[in-house]
Parts: sequence; C-alpha cells; structure tokens
Amino acid sequence: MDKIVSLAQRRGFVFPSSEIYGGLSGCWDYGPLGIELKRNIKAVWWKEMVQDRDDIVGIETSILMARQVWEASGHTERMVDPLVECKECHLRWKADDLKGTQCPACKGDLTEARMFNVMFKTFVGPIEDSANVVYLRPETAQGMFVNFDNIAQSTRRKIPFGIAQQGKSFRNEITTGNFIFRSREFEQMEMEFFVKPGTDEKWFNYWVQTRFDWHIKYGIKREHLGLDEHPKEKLAHYAKRCIDIIYRFPHGWAELEGIANRTDYDLKQHSRASGKTLDYYDDETKEHYTPFVIEPAVGVDRPLLAFMCDAYAEEPDKDETRVVLHFHPAIAPIKAAILPLSKKENLAAFARDVYKDVRSNLMVQYDDTQSIGRRYRRQDEIGTPYCVTVDFQSLEDKRVTIRERDSMNQIRIPVSELRKTLTAKLEGEAFLVLPQGGEVVQAKGK
Ligand code: GAP
Repeated sequence: MDKIVSLAQRRGFVFPSSEIYGGLSGCWDYGPLGIELKRNIKAVWWKEMVQDRDDIVGIETSILMARQVWEASGHTERMVDPLVECKECHLRWKADDLKGTQCPACKGDLTEARMFNVMFKTFVGPIEDSANVVYLRPETAQGMFVNFDNIAQSTRRKIPFGIAQQGKSFRNEITTGNFIFRSREFEQMEMEFFVKPGTDEKWFNYWVQTRFDWHIKYGIKREHLGLDEHPKEKLAHYAKRCIDIIYRFPHGWAELEGIANRTDYDLKQHSRASGKTLDYYDDETKEHYTPFVIEPAVGVDRPLLAFMCDAYAEEPDKDETRVVLHFHPAIAPIKAAILPLSKKENLAAFARDVYKDVRSNLMVQYDDTQSIGRRYRRQDEIGTPYCVTVDFQSLEDKRVTIRERDSMNQIRIPVSELRKTLTAKLEGEAFLVLPQGGEVVQAKGK
C-alpha cells in the first residue's frame, strides 16, 4: 500500500484533502491523473450498464433529499454503527472492527458500545432548527426508488428494467483509513434492477456474475477476487440476500462491491410513507405488483484503488527496474505520449502538430524533457499504453514510432495513420512488430 500511496501522491493521482492545513480525515482530492482514471472507470461502468443495454436507463438525483426519504427507507433508525471510546486516550472505534476488548492504540479499557448514526446532518435554509434538518445522502439508491414511477411512466419501460446512477455519497464513518478504501465522502455507481417477484433469485445470480466479470475485464486478477455471502444475521435491514465481491487489498480481503436482493422493501416503504403507490401494472398478465429490486452497488474509489494495486509492477529493464502500471487501455488516464527526440525548432513544430492532431480525440501528453529512456519510464509509471517518438527521420519520411508499454515492442507507421492506429490499438487491435530484418510478426501475448 505504501508504494501505491507514494506513487499516487508523487504523480498526481490522489492527495489528502486540505493538505496544507494538515488534511481532513476521510476526505481525498483527485489530481490530474486521478480524475482521468476516475472518469474512465465511471465511463466503462456507464457504457456497460446503460449505453450498451436496452433495459437500463440513467438518472442523476440530488444529494439532498426530503428527510422523510431516510425515515421511510429505515436509514434514520438503522444506518447506525456501534461506537466505543477508549477511557484512556479517548480514541473512538467501530466496535465491529475490534478483535479484543481493549483500545488498539493504548490498550486502555473501552466504554460500552453506543449506536452512532453515520448520516451527515445539515439544514435547508437559514434557520437551524429540527424542522429544517436534511441529510447528505449515504447512498445514491434512494434517488432511484423515489423516482421509480417518474422513470417507468416517462420512458414507458417494461419490467425487468433498471435505473443507474453515479454520484457522491457521504457517511460519517467512525474510522476511516487504508488510503481511499473507506472515506467520509466517496462516489458510488449503483443500479436498481426492478424485476417480477419470483424471478429475483435468477436476476440476483445474473448480476453477481456480470459484475464479477466486469472487474476482471478491466484489470483485476482472478485470484485477487472472491465472493462472500452475508449470513442472515448480518444482512442490511432491507436485504433478503447480499453477496459481496471481495478483493485482496494490501490490508486484506475486503468488500469491493455489494450485490443485494432488496426485495420490494424500499418501494413499499416509500408507497406507505408518501401515499403515492409505487407499483407496476403488467399489461400482458393483467397483474399489479410491487417489483423486487436487485442492486449491484459499487464505489468508484475502491475499484480505483484495486485497479491501481493490480496494475502495479516492478520489472527488470536492462540493468534497472521499471515501475509500470499495466492499466487496461480503457481506464488508463493518458492514452499516449508524444515524445520528440529533440527540442530543435523544426522537430518541435512537427511534433506539436502531431500532438494537436491526436489530442482532439484522445487524452495525450506532450513531453520533451530529459532522455527518451526517462520519458518512457515516466509514462510507464502512470500506465500510458503507448509512447509515440518523433525523430529527425520523421521530418523526411513522415513516419513516427509507437512503443507499446507492456511488451516495449515498437512499430513505425505513417504519421497520417497515427490517430486511427492508436484508436484501433487502444480498442484491442494486435500490435504487429517489425523486428530486425523487416518481417511482420504477431507481438507475443496479443
Ligand atoms: N446502496 C447500497 C449500498 O450503499 P454499501 O455496501 O454500503 O451498499 C456500496 O456500499 C459500495 O459503496 C461498497 O461496496 C463500496 O464500494 C462503496 N463504499 C461504501 N462505503 C464506502 C466508504 N466509506 N468509502 C468508500 N467507498 C465506500
């Protein structure tokens, strides 16, 4: 973890929030590379969960919601963690996380556990009284439930269908830590899939498998991923079943994503509390029913940390060691770097034109400082899949060299083909190498 945290800060992925004031516990800022990585993770989730499907639509709801939402959903009463305090050093701990009965910091005695609601409270309007209390949402999911009817009517969706959302959630966690693993402000990607009661088990299994495969597709090693079913007594108040997709983080196996069968709990609770019936009329069977809900819920920050951990490698390179982030090209923050071999005016002008051309459809960097070897290293360390070198020969033959991050193989192509070639390679096209002697062969592993 130390290596990941250090790389993240040194290269501008993640910084502690308000760092110049000593930081704010449980809050993080994403730097120029971190925000690209985050946006790419959100984009591949959105593409597969919304864009590529006929049965899921997107939504973005407000972070502040009517207080009654959280009363009806059960969060006001039940979004609580048992908190204990050390009688000696006064540090506070989540009782569930403790192994023994003593303070992990100073071995002092602990108080009895009391229940602590983790929702952040604030006020709407200028008057800070109890009538104006609202909460920062602790999950995005309730935005989908309270809009169930709006979406069903406005999009004329038939069951089964889903509503997806990405956005910030807030929890006043008693203990935070392990870098961005558990924060107080974090981002979630959740999808509520509304199904006919009786078909819920089938859809539950479908979503567990689909989401498991997604993590592997974008770079998690199969051996670092597992499934953990919650025992009945540990299920959230709304769930009939819940399986966590767990990942082997540097601090141990822990939840990456949760898939829950939330039954008809939320829709029924909101129907009761609001007086607005949230059910579904099936034209074909002429039945009215309240749909069951299968919910795959994942953060953005946790997969981001997991993708960084599994991408990280230290590899021998000639007499030295190179640090590489082997990111899947779709999530790599920078897709290619344009590297002129010299800063001489005529070469620089040519290289800048190449850069401008490519950046119009890909996130690319221009780097003309230090030796080419060091520039390759810098790009490897941030996971850039391709480096494009522009040399003096390029001025003559209008060709540039592309170097692939993982194999370090190189190809030389006409600059007029560069944009198209990079796009195709990023989408998975094979990297054909021209070795000494000139014969075209298939690059290994492609
Ligand atoms: N709507 C259901 C729900 O919110 P959850 O298991 O509490 O379920 C879903 O949260 C996901 O959100 C987790 O699997 C995790 O990826 C992320 N998450 C939850 N709490 C988090 C925190 N304090 N910091 C970072 N990510 C968190």
